[in-house]
Formats: sequence, C-alpha cells, structure tokens
Amino acid sequence: MHSYSYPITVKAVWWDDSSRRVCWINTLKLPFEEEVVCSNDPVRIAKAIIEMEVRGAPAIGVIAALAVAAYASKLAGENAANIQEKLHEAIDLLWRTRPTAYNLFWALERMRRKIASASGLNPRELADALVEEALRILNEDIEANIKIGEYGAELVREGATILTHCNAGALATSAFGTAEAVIRVAWYKGKKIKVIATETRPLLQGARLTVWELMKEGIPVTLITDNMAGYVIRRGLVDLVVVGADRITREGFVVNKIGTYMIALAAKRNNIPFYVAAPTSTIDLNSSIRDVIIEERNPMEVKTVMGRLITLENVNALNYAFDITDPDLVTAIITEKGVVYPPFEENLKKLFER
Ligand code: MRU
Repeated sequence: MHSYSYPITVKAVWWDDSSRRVCWINTLKLPFEEEVVCSNDPVRIAKAIIEMEVRGAPAIGVIAALAVAAYASKLAGENAANIQEKLHEAIDLLWRTRPTAYNLFWALERMRRKIASASGLNPRELADALVEEALRILNEDIEANIKIGEYGAELVREGATILTHCNAGALATSAFGTAEAVIRVAWYKGKKIKVIATETRPLLQGARLTVWELMKEGIPVTLITDNMAGYVIRRGLVDLVVVGADRITREGFVVNKIGTYMIALAAKRNNIPFYVAAPTSTIDLNSSIRDVIIEERNPMEVKTVMGRLITLENVNALNYAFDITDPDLVTAIITEKGVVYPPFEENLKKLFER
C-alpha cells in the first residue's frame, strides 16, 4: 500500500488484485452516474479507450499496461498456449486505439520490454512480473502528479484565478491529475485560488469531469463555454492558464485538447502566463512536430451534445480531437523533475539527463 502526502479523492483506473482485472470509472456517464467497469479482456479495454470511457494521456497509458497484465493473468489461469504471441497481439490492438497521446505508446513499450526480459518464466510468473510492471507505471504516475503539483503550486500566487481547459485531472491520470495537481496543491496549501473551467466541446470533459472533480473538493470553479475564453482573459479575469498535454515534442510543441491553441494565443496577447503540466512520460524526445498524428474523431460527436442531435444530421462536420501550441506561446512546462523554461529544445533534453 502506498501512502501519499495529499488525499487521493478520485481514481480513474485501478487494479483489482482479487479478480486480477483492471477497473475504471466510465467517464462517459459522469457527472450523473459513477459506473465502475472491470475487465481482463483486451478487446473490451481497447473499446473503452477508443470510445473514451477512459481518456486523458496518462490514464490511457496506465489502463493499457494494466490490460496487458490482466490478460496475462487470464491466460495463465486458462493454461493457454502461445501466451507471448497472444500478449503481443493484445499490445498491437491497444496500440491502435488512439494515435496522439504519447503515454499510451510509452507504457506499452515498457510492457513489451518486460515480456522480452521474462523469457525464462512460467505463465504465472510472467503474469506476476507484468502485474508488477503495470503497477509500477500506475504508482509512478501518481507520484509524478504529486511532484508536478508541488512544483506548479509555487508558480501560483495567493488568491489567483487559474483557467484550465479539458480535464487534466484525476480522471485523466491514475489519480491527482496534472494541471489539476497544480490546482489541488495550491488549494491544499491554503492559497484561496479560483478556477475557470472551459466546457470543452464536443465531449464536454471540462463541464462534465473537471467541474465534478473540483466541486467534490470544494475548490471554487466557474464554468464557461469554450468561445468565452478569449474575452474572459481580455477582461483580466484570469491570472494564469494551466493545461495538460497529450504529447510534447522535442522542439517543445504542445499537443493538447482542441481549443488549447486559441487559449495560448489569448494568454500571450494579454501577457498572462501559459503553463503546461505534464509528466516526462508525455514528452517524446524522438518525435518532431512533423511526426505527430492529430486524431480525427467521428463527426457525429460535433453534431450532437450528450447523444442528442443539435444540427442537420447530414451537414459536414470536422472533428479534430487535438491541436498544436507553438513553443513560443508556452511560458513553462511543469514536470515531476522540475519546471522547464525556454529554450525548450535544449532544456527538455537536459531534463532527461538528470
Ligand atoms: O480526448 P481526451 O479527453 O483524451 O483529451 C485529454 C486531453 O487533451 C488532456 O488535456 C491531456 O490528455 C492531458 S491529461 C493529464
């Protein structure tokens, strides 16, 4: 059992050791219903990632790793043949679920390496080794988030209003969040902050998830529509912006939820800091912005709100899930290893040498 220096009030994904399955909160049903789902079936878990029952870069990395561990446990229990081959097929399936967040590939690569290093083990021992590795990924994520919160809270002055976009909270990680870790630690330290949360169309992660998490903690939060962000910043209602990231490239480009770029532009124009909070598992020093795949999702998500049609069904709609924020719009990147300032290309590299 791990104990942390702050309360863990919400968990997005966890391991159920008695059934050797991975469990998660189906975020599609929040904030109206807290449905918990458990599985050891990689096809079911891949569907949960694709359909965004579980979402957020660190959370999808963690659930993918736990999916491999749960499947290995299931196969060991069934005395299945060709276990390693089946595990690699499951990894390939999970790999293809969502293309943008780096954490997914980072976590699955770790599981692949673990399988490769465990060639002499029997099926039960292999499953145990994979459970151990997946739990290490999960616990490292929580510990990283707490450190991000501690570094980030130093940048928040007493009484500040923080604007955040999408949900980079507990529900996007194993627990505690990234951007929300900064908010949480500032709050726990008694800084009397306030939060402005964007609703985050089309899937409303801000309105449904960020608001739910912050209100659960009693942190004051005001909801705005996405298109209000520019005016709210221009009016002087925001002291700083803190968002998460799905991928940070070696040049310091930040790939995050669609709408992030517009907020970064408004922050720059109005001279307020724009911070990105992300663990080093989101930073890919090998990827250049040219290699990044921006996920395009089903246009029906744009044409509906909570499943209800809001326009003519046959209209054309575009549904980019993420956008790209240029390094010069980013004040600093808050990681578990410290706060990184420009020039990012140089300083991100140094972070991995520490
Ligand atoms: O499409 P989503 O909901 O998975 O997108 C989530 C985001 O863009 C988050 O800001 C990002 O993953 C960071 S979460 C700590």
